Amino acid sequence: MPADRRSTLRLLAACTAQPPLALFAALAAPPLRAQDVPQPEKQPIMAGPYVPSPDTVVSQMLDMAGVGPDDVLIDMGSGDGRIVLTAAKLRGARGLGIEIQAPLIALSIETARREGVADRARFVRQDLFTTDVSEATVVTIYLLPDTVNMLRDKLRRELRPGTRVLTHDYPIAGWLPESWQRFDEPEKKGATGQPSATVYLYRIPAQVGGRWQATVPAALSRQRIVLELRQQWQMLDGMATVGGREVPLEDVRLRGEAVSFRLRLEHGRLASFEGRARDGAIEGTAAIEGAALPWRAARAS
Ligand SMILES: C[S@@+](CC[C@H](N)C(=O)[O-])C[C@H]1O[C@@H](n2cnc3c(N)ncnc32)[C@H](O)[C@@H]1O
Repeated sequence: MPADRRSTLRLLAACTAQPPLALFAALAAPPLRAQDVPQPEKQPIMAGPYVPSPDTVVSQMLDMAGVGPDDVLIDMGSGDGRIVLTAAKLRGARGLGIEIQAPLIALSIETARREGVADRARFVRQDLFTTDVSEATVVTIYLLPDTVNMLRDKLRRELRPGTRVLTHDYPIAGWLPESWQRFDEPEKKGATGQPSATVYLYRIPAQVGGRWQATVPAALSRQRIVLELRQQWQMLDGMATVGGREVPLEDVRLRGEAVSFRLRLEHGRLASFEGRARDGAIEGTAAIEGAALPWRAARAS
């Protein structure tokens, strides 16, 4: 068995078993001492024991989110740092691991140094419930089911629209996954009793529900257009009022900040609208009869 695998197994035994002395004993002569890692201010809630995601699950998460060099990945409860380290090493992403157990932070920092990714992969000993995650473009979570749901409001509040959130095994209640994958993973049998794993991918949607006043070029419509959008998570539908006439919006979609729909204007002309919702406005282009025209909508309520 390779030495780093043996050391992970020792840590797994120590970090799941506690007491604290066992945790420190688990790292034989670590280059960075666990006691040198700063302490969080108050005693945090234990959101889950240290059970590392198998490598297949890590790859699956990174693939499903399409992680690349422009991403900032935050792993909430980062264990031995493997998700952040793999994203930095293989995808060129920047990452932050938030972890409460000092030996695991020490191990993660040491691995990042050894593998030459310390400039892109950072690790902090902090409570994941109180650490700001707003800089993330991708968040990964492998925690107990109740904890995952306790994080729901925090994630919704702090993450920008378009941010991808991946959870291993436990879905986020009330959120609709954009996709999910279940696959065989014999390594999971020991930890969960099931030789399989599930990964859920969510994308934080912009808040676009409500009434919008649209401004369009005369070549598109000379009528006053008001949009009434109804939103539940990323599910969107709605109506438009075009010069006092009510028209249902067709093929309404929301993906992060990206909004699109089709709308039948005067004389039965069908226009395909696309736009980005940002800072209280939606801006984009509308395609009609081979032309692409700019349009904008401002919040009316
Ligand atoms: C199931 S492990 C997941 C490790 C890693 N994310 C992975 O998927 O391989 C959960 C980790 O969360 C850490 N943890 C639990 N509660 C925490 C808290 N309040 N703040 C930070 N980390 C926490 C545990 O110490 C453990 O290492």
